[in-house]
Amino acid sequence: MSDTATITTREPTETPAAMPGAAARGTVRPGGKDLYCVVGPELFVAAEHLQGRESVDFRVLEDQEQCLGVLHAARSAGVVALVPDEALLSRPVAAVAEAVRLAVRTLAKTFRDGLREWMLDVPGPLDEGLLPLLAEEGFELAPESGLRSVCRDFTRGDRERAASMEEVYADPYTVPWNFVPLETDVLERLLAGTPPGSRVLDLGCGYGKNARQLIPLGYRVAGSDISASAVARARRLLGPGVELSVADATALPWPDASFDAALDIGCLHCMPAEDRPAAVRELARVLTPEGVLYSRMFRPRPAQWLAAQPFHTTDFGLEAGAAAALLGSVFTEVEIESTPHATYLVARGPVNR
Ligand SMILES: C[S@@+](CC[C@H](N)C(=O)[O-])C[C@H]1O[C@@H](n2cnc3c(N)ncnc32)[C@H](O)[C@@H]1O
Repeated sequence: MSDTATITTREPTETPAAMPGAAARGTVRPGGKDLYCVVGPELFVAAEHLQGRESVDFRVLEDQEQCLGVLHAARSAGVVALVPDEALLSRPVAAVAEAVRLAVRTLAKTFRDGLREWMLDVPGPLDEGLLPLLAEEGFELAPESGLRSVCRDFTRGDRERAASMEEVYADPYTVPWNFVPLETDVLERLLAGTPPGSRVLDLGCGYGKNARQLIPLGYRVAGSDISASAVARARRLLGPGVELSVADATALPWPDASFDAALDIGCLHCMPAEDRPAAVRELARVLTPEGVLYSRMFRPRPAQWLAAQPFHTTDFGLEAGAAAALLGSVFTEVEIESTPHATYLVARGPVNR
């Protein structure tokens, strides 16, 4: 621990309100050929999950009776159709493909069993650029009926578990954190303490879903991840002009004092324990003296949970004290909020540069 590290414990706050400007609109449009749509209470549950998550944009069908009828048909048919609204389709194709994947995953969780097939009904001609991206999500063009995809498991069997993060990203369909709409809990903490215009590092940025929320709010975000596939996809999603780097957290490719804030959403807690001290030294180095790190580290999880993850890990998660000590080794002030599953940490006063 740094000689003067102060660790402050705070009571956990309520999950912060949704990100500004985002409105979930669930939807579904019934009817048409053999098309069945997701509607009704199930969709509203899904829409609740998606509340404030801009990635998915469905219209909510208000008529409950009609919803229930179509839902029943959808269930008995084992087919669910997604009908993205036109506002969504006017976005860049990479964003549409992400939204579709997110919707499929979220709705699959809601419906659990019994689904055989997804259909995607895109009003109007399909953007050619979208097709290969949707193919990555498992959708295929089906004559006369638009895009179809058979329902697949979203987890890998034990034997298929990947040895490296690069291998994990080889099948984007089965990467669990890619289906969390937004990490609002951490992002809201950063937003509260970081003015727009600030330079923000997204450590272990994955597909860039968190960076994508910050950029339109005026933050200058750069991201890094150890997986080249994740970074390639983030590049596609975020577009040109966002600095993204394939890099190990223990050797960041930025000069000292490059960032006003850093985000650690899921990176430090899943890397090998012996690499964490070097990674936090790097974070301290690339932050300005006033720079702040916002981190969320999961507590260690039971073996059964680990076995369900797509990656092999021996060091997953840290208890609150260990997480605070890790950051306290290179920051002079660490504020922690512990919840049963995770510790939120805000670290200030980087040292060791
Ligand atoms: C749980 S995922 C979270 C991804 C992203 N932050 C999000 O919220 O979707 C953790 C990420 O950290 C990356 N990662 C793991 N070990 C890393 C390391 N040593 N250096 C850089 N990135 C790493 C993984 O490739 C993965 O993308």
